Amino acid sequence: MAETARSVLVVDDEADIRALLTDLLKEDGYKVRPAKTGAEALEAVAKDVPDLVMMDVKLPDTDGLGVLKTLKREHPELEVIVMTAFGGSSTAIKAMEHGAYDYVTKPFEIDDLLATLRRVFEHADMSSEVSALRLELGKSAAERERIVGSSKPMLEVFKLIGKVAGSDATVLITGESGTGKELVAEALHRASKRNPHPLVKVSCAALPETLLETELFGHEKGSFTGAMTMRKGRFETANKGTIFLDEIGEMTLATQTKLLRILQEREFERIGSNVPIKIDIRVITATNRNLAEEVDKGRFREDLYYRLNVIHVDMPPLRERKDDIPLLVEHFLVKYRHAPGAIPTTISEEALTRLVDYDWPGNVRELENAVERAVVLSRGLPITAEHLPFSNRIEVKDRRAMAERRSRLLDEDESETDADATAATNGAPGANGSGSLKDRVSELERQLIKEALERAGGNRTKAAEELGIYRRLLYAKIKEYGLGD
Ligand SMILES: Nc1ncnc2c1ncn2[C@@H]1O[C@H](COP(=O)(O)OP(=O)(O)OP(=O)(O)O)[C@@H](O)[C@H]1O
Ligand SMILES: [Mg+2]
Repeated sequence: MAETARSVLVVDDEADIRALLTDLLKEDGYKVRPAKTGAEALEAVAKDVPDLVMMDVKLPDTDGLGVLKTLKREHPELEVIVMTAFGGSSTAIKAMEHGAYDYVTKPFEIDDLLATLRRVFEHADMSSEVSALRLELGKSAAERERIVGSSKPMLEVFKLIGKVAGSDATVLITGESGTGKELVAEALHRASKRNPHPLVKVSCAALPETLLETELFGHEKGSFTGAMTMRKGRFETANKGTIFLDEIGEMTLATQTKLLRILQEREFERIGSNVPIKIDIRVITATNRNLAEEVDKGRFREDLYYRLNVIHVDMPPLRERKDDIPLLVEHFLVKYRHAPGAIPTTISEEALTRLVDYDWPGNVRELENAVERAVVLSRGLPITAEHLPFSNRIEVKDRRAMAERRSRLLDEDESETDADATAATNGAPGANGSGSLKDRVSELERQLIKEALERAGGNRTKAAEELGIYRRLLYAKIKEYGLGD
């Protein structure tokens, strides 16, 4: 399979880009066919299915995302890399949701581009080896939706899960409490070919050292007082599957040494026995501690740390991906709807703004609890600010800080266009709060955009350039302020 040249269909309306990619890919040994439009692309694929499609999402005749959807529906195995203009990451997210393998932003970094391509094909080789794996990957895509998020950091997490799911590499998941570490461990297991076998979870914090060891390794009958029968440990139960060692930072040095041996030799003995037992296992660990620091302090074995940290998934705290909050709220409103089968409870703009403004020290878990509680309190009626746990605790001082932060966020909007464009198209609040400062800033913004548009003679690209914002954000603002035709 790897011997025959891979074929790539390049879909872009710009002749320069088509020529550039064709040259580049041919040089790298690929067979290339170009297409100018969505219709041409579909026709080309119908004639002969390529190994990969590289496609601009902005096509002259149709919406590129629509073409992507059609392609993936008719050829689920076909991999598609989407090209977007720099800053169009909400489009990229949509493309990933519709099954694109990856996205690249224009202008291209040639090396990145080729690396991405090679990755696709490695992935394709791996997944066609076992057709069952394909099935698992398909399943994982659906399951992955249980981890909600569309912010850039979460998108990176999803990509990483997809990338390492097929391998047996040891994964270390770090992040603050409530960020979804366990969810990631589950997703990794489900997406792997070990999925039919057990995922065994052990919290290293829940048990004192000796009990944790019997729990993990099991014991022979009579190995210690009270050991009346032989007991299999969790490692044995997890054979052929995955073991998830949660709160690994709490494991004592003695137990760490035993774990290290299992990782090195893939065998262990039950306590009170000297018969080695072979195991075939994937190890995933998680901690909310900084393990590197623990190593420095001599509380964690350095060699074990490197063994565990082959792949590192770092879960970003919720306050650093506030874009995800409206999505998560929606997700939990469905999850905790008032009664089974009932229409999900709705939420007022003000309440949602509060949720977005709050800093969530307990991360997604705290948000989930807050939404669940609010659904109960509101008894199926729309949730308002008074149903939120912190509604009565906001001091005047905090209100001022909130207003300041909101206006700061507004400034940042100008540079962080992706987040804003997503929020704007999602109709998320925060973009139309009710504070008078906010109103005045909005009015000023509307005025500045209007003037820039006039000066640019209605040319939006020019106006966006002058304002120093992305075109996508300008479009969103034009719509928001009703400045369009
Ligand atoms: N991205 C997400 N989408 C949907 N639900 C989420 C997400 N992240 C976390 N949750 C939910 O939040 C709760 C906490 O997640 P999880 O147990 O995975 O966190 P954790 O990082 O393991 O926390 P801890 O360190 O406290 O054990 C769970 O109910 C989980 O379902
Ligand atoms: Mg956890």
